[in-house]
Amino acid sequence: MFEMASLVRSLQDRTEQALDVCLPSAATHPARLHEAMRHSALGGGKRLRPILVYATGRALGVSGKPLDAPACAVELIHVYSLIHDDLPAMDDDDLRRGKPTCHKAFDEATAILAGDAMQSLAFQILATDLHPADAPAARLKMIEILARASGSRGMAGGQAIDLASVGRDISFPELEDMHIHKTGALIRASVLLGALAAGPADAGVMDRLDRYAKCIGLAFQIRDDILDVEGDTATLGKKSGADIALEKPTYPALLGMEAAKEEARSLVEEAKGSLAAIGGQTDLLHWVADYVIGRIH
Ligand code: IPE
Ligand code: IPE
Ligand code: MG
Ligand code: MG
Ligand code: MG
Repeated sequence: MFEMASLVRSLQDRTEQALDVCLPSAATHPARLHEAMRHSALGGGKRLRPILVYATGRALGVSGKPLDAPACAVELIHVYSLIHDDLPAMDDDDLRRGKPTCHKAFDEATAILAGDAMQSLAFQILATDLHPADAPAARLKMIEILARASGSRGMAGGQAIDLASVGRDISFPELEDMHIHKTGALIRASVLLGALAAGPADAGVMDRLDRYAKCIGLAFQIRDDILDVEGDTATLGKKSGADIALEKPTYPALLGMEAAKEEARSLVEEAKGSLAAIGGQTDLLHWVADYVIGRIH
């Protein structure tokens, strides 16, 4: 367990360094935009999506360089989604990762553009990465998967469903659908990109990894909903109690707290079950599954 914690820390550091390299410096023109991008992308966050890229590579026998570009790409899409999620037009939050949100530290227009530019940068990184240099088909597939996961049938669509659901009584299948899209899609893409970076994989292994990713993606947002009720602002690094204040439909609100926790637990058990037949070094994928429901921020 101790070993896993230090592996996770080293992957968080690796992600930080890789992002630092791929983001333009704060002095690069237009400086205010680049400062805003660096403010939001560096120095915070759990880096769960990059960790999933590295964890999937590890399960398939690959580590290091080939995983850096997909790890940065998924994190950049995630950070862009957070910047826009925090805007007054969406959740109107002032605090993110223990710091002022992008539009508070800068201004709304800069925050919108920082998100836009991060999204473009994610695809630029995938399109220009040279590790591996001889696998254009895999890289093209990564771009397609990430584009689908971020778009109107993925994260952006999920955010649209979220906003359209405010103050409404939605059904359990509608809530599940919202979470699968707004959060699950990018978590699933993180695992699939890690697998693609590791080279051609057996179709059965890909199916099991995909099942794992779908389960933890949904469990992750259920835990986020739970922490919004049970967590405190200082530990979360973002304002707790925001969902109730904004009348957001959540798992605890719809199912009750105990049933929400049970649902997250059973998804994580299913995720771990689907790792059983993979055969590689799945220790980090197991760790992530437990972390998704055990985390306190
Ligand atoms: C927060 O994501 C938004 C959701 C999709 C629930 P994270 O909880 O992964 O946020 P960071 O990256 O650690 O800040
Ligand atoms: C955000 O969900 C999902 C995305 C950013 C795509 P939330 O609105 O619940 O995330 P937090 O709680 O603000 O981090
Ligand atoms: Mg939101
Ligand atoms: Mg929010
Ligand atoms: Mg939330």
